[in-house]
Amino acid sequence: HALTTFRNEDFQDFTHADVKADMHAALRLVESELGHEYPLIIGGARVTAAAKIVSTNPARPAEKIGVHQEAELSHVEQAVAAADKAFQTWSRVPVATRVQLLLDVSKKIQQRKNEFCAWLTFEVGKNWAEADADVAETIDFLEFYAREALRLDGAKTPIQFPGERNTLRYIPLGVGAVIPPWNFPLAIMAGMTMAAVVTGNTVVLKPSVDAPTIAARFFLLLEECGMPEGVVNLCQGSGELAGAALVSHPKVRFIAFTGSKRVGLIVHETAAKTQPGQHFIKRTVLEMGGKDAILVDADADIDAAVEGVAASAFGFNGQKCSACSRAIVDARIYDVFCDRLVERVEKIKSGEPAENSAAGPVINTVAYKRVLDYIAIGRTEGRLLTGGGAIENETGGYYIQPTIFADVAPDARIAQEEIFGPVLAVIKSNSFDEALEIANGTEYGLTGAIYSGSRERLNRAAAEFHVGNLYLNRKCTGAMVGAHPFGGFNMSGTDSKAGGGDYLLLFTQGKSIAEKV
Ligand code: SER
Repeated sequence: HALTTFRNEDFQDFTHADVKADMHAALRLVESELGHEYPLIIGGARVTAAAKIVSTNPARPAEKIGVHQEAELSHVEQAVAAADKAFQTWSRVPVATRVQLLLDVSKKIQQRKNEFCAWLTFEVGKNWAEADADVAETIDFLEFYAREALRLDGAKTPIQFPGERNTLRYIPLGVGAVIPPWNFPLAIMAGMTMAAVVTGNTVVLKPSVDAPTIAARFFLLLEECGMPEGVVNLCQGSGELAGAALVSHPKVRFIAFTGSKRVGLIVHETAAKTQPGQHFIKRTVLEMGGKDAILVDADADIDAAVEGVAASAFGFNGQKCSACSRAIVDARIYDVFCDRLVERVEKIKSGEPAENSAAGPVINTVAYKRVLDYIAIGRTEGRLLTGGGAIENETGGYYIQPTIFADVAPDARIAQEEIFGPVLAVIKSNSFDEALEIANGTEYGLTGAIYSGSRERLNRAAAEFHVGNLYLNRKCTGAMVGAHPFGGFNMSGTDSKAGGGDYLLLFTQGKSIAEKV
C-alpha cells in the first residue's frame, strides 16, 4: 500500500467565479432533492417505522429537508444484531480492504464536495465556508484514519524478549454505537463512524435528529463504495429511546459520542452499568461541551485579537464546542478592545445560509429559546455592547443577533454555562495571573487561546492554561486534523483526541503474542 503523505484538504475559495458557479449548481441540485423520505438501513435492508423524524431548514422551518424513520426498540435490537453478525466477517477482513473503503469514500466526497456543502447549508444553516470546512474535515478524517490504520497494523512490541518472537496486534472491540452531534454533522459523524470501521469494528449509527439527512446521504455513499451489509447500520431515532437503548445494550461494546455535557454524562453513567448477559466493560469516547476563553494581553496585537475573538465567538453562530464564549481582556486595553470588537461584530450580516450570509439561524426552536433566555440573563449580569435579541424575518428562521456583554463577572452564569449560540461574555482582568485564573475557573477544559506579544506569557499559558486545545496568537476554533488532535479535559470529555495519533487506539484492544523460537 503506497499512500501519499497525509495533507489537509484545501479550503475552497468561493470568490472564484467557477467555484461559486459550482456551489450554485450544487445548491440547485440539492434543492431538487429536498423532502425525500429515507429508510432505516439495517443489515443492508430498508426498514420503515411508524413514527417519522422530519428534518427542516432552520432558516425557513416550513421547508422539509428529509423525512426519516424514528427507530423503535425492535429496530435497535435488529440493528445491533446485524452489526454483531457483520462483525464476525468484518473484523477478519484485511486492513487494506478496510482502508480502501475509507479512501474510496474520501474520493467520492472530493468529487461531490459542494453537493455535501449544500446539504449542510440547507439542513443545519452553515454558510459556504463553514460547510466547506466541515466537508474538508470529513475528507481529512477519512484520509488520516486510513493511514493511521496501516500504521497501527505495523505495531511492534517495544522489546523482543530473547528466545521469543513477540508481536502486538490491535484488534477491534466489537459492535459500537456512534452518536454524533448536529453541528459538524458530516465531519464528526463520519470521523467517529469510520475510525470504528477502519479498525474492524461494526457500528450502529444514530445520527442527531437535527441532521439526519446528511447522515443518510453519507450512508448511501458508503453503500456506493461497496461497504458490506451490516458494517454500518443507519438507525435514526431519538436520544431518549434509540440512543439510550443502544448505550445500555449488552452487546454494544463501545460508545463514541459527541454532544452536550448533560447527555455525555448520562452515556458515561449508563455505559458503566453492567447488563445481564454483558461480557465486557464498555468503553466510552466522549466529546462534550466547553466554556472556551480567549485571553487578550495588554501587549497583544489588538486587531488580530479582535478578528480571532469575532471568528471564534460568532463563526457558525457560536454553535461549536470550541467556540469562544469568554474574552478575558487586560484592563489596560479593555475599552479599546471592546470598541473595536463591537465595530467588527456589527459588520456580521445575518441571513439565508444558501445565499452565503455570514451568520445564519441557530439550529432549532429549543436552541432559539435557550439562547434568548441566556441573553435575558446576560442583561442582568453584564453591560450589553451589541445585539441582544432575535431578528424578525419573513421565513420564520431562528435568527439571533450576535450579542456581546461586557463587564461580566467570572462566576456569572453567562461566564460559566455553555450557551452554544452567538453570545460572548467579556471579562476584565487586572493582571496576567488573574486572567489565567479566570480562564481556568470553569468545569470545562476544551479549547483556549491567548493573544500576547510576550514570549514569557505565551510560555506560561502553554504550561498553565488547562485545556485540551490551546492556541497562541490565533483563534480557538477550526482544529486541523493531524496538526491539532482535538478533545478536552475535565467536563469537556474523555480527552479522546480526534484526528490525532492516539485516536484509533480507542477503538481497539491490544493483543500481545509471544512465541518460543
Ligand atoms: N473541531 C472543531 C473546531 O476545532 C470543533 O468540533 O472548531
